[in-house]
Amino acid sequence: LRNPACTQALSAATDWVGYDLYLDLASDVKQAQTEYRFPLGGEEARVRYAIELAKQGKNVALVCSGDAGIYAMAALVYEIIDLEPNRIMVEVVPGISAFQAAAAKAGAMIGHDFCCISLSDLLTPWAVIEKRLHAAAEGDFVIAFYNPRSLKRRDQLERAFAILNNHRPPDTPVIIASNLGRPTEAVKIVKFSDFNPDDVDMLTLVMVGSSQSRAMQRGDGKTYAYTPRGYAKKREMQ
Ligand SMILES: C[S@@+](CC[C@H](N)C(=O)[O-])C[C@H]1O[C@@H](n2cnc3c(N)ncnc32)[C@H](O)[C@@H]1O
Repeated sequence: LRNPACTQALSAATDWVGYDLYLDLASDVKQAQTEYRFPLGGEEARVRYAIELAKQGKNVALVCSGDAGIYAMAALVYEIIDLEPNRIMVEVVPGISAFQAAAAKAGAMIGHDFCCISLSDLLTPWAVIEKRLHAAAEGDFVIAFYNPRSLKRRDQLERAFAILNNHRPPDTPVIIASNLGRPTEAVKIVKFSDFNPDDVDMLTLVMVGSSQSRAMQRGDGKTYAYTPRGYAKKREMQ
């Protein structure tokens, strides 16, 4: 799902900085670029390294997955250049985020108002996340959950579903989408009442429908989910 603008930026760069897996995923574009591979975590060191290379006049690609501006490195680059101003040029190249890929693969779940919530409380206090969960539940948004679960963080997803429980009918569709755009991609749709957090790991995006979202089965035997935009009312008036 890498778009042409991202491919072009990767090709034009002299240096690539990124987490191992992301550089592996871009390997088909690699020519003579110098790679600086970093382990998962240590984001600030990775960003500072990229900034130092850029200060030396290199054309640096700081490689992220999905969209670099969504729970990724672009905000940290701006945070650091805001703290320590310099004259490097920064361009954020938009990508396709996991919520867009998941919704498209499963049908058209974000046809109406939606929001994204990260369930990681490593950088955000749980009280703040909980407040947003209540607001999104009451606001009847379609909700995309990023960072739903990891080896260390096991129970945030259960807590989020407990908050949503009073605001969503039991048959509300839930998309469980893993490894989107990769050979091991898996996308399934279950009912809110049948959702099992054990189907989820850190490479999964979970998307819960609004009270208006619907699931349907098609001739290929697969289930799809969508959120109507409101044309039914318009049809009724005709
Ligand atoms: C730190 S965020 C990075 C988000 C990324 N910048 C994006 O725009 O999709 C990591 C979380 O994004 C989601 N994610 C990222 N890549 C994914 C993929 N290929 N398939 C499913 N979920 C993914 C998962 O919820 C994962 O825990």
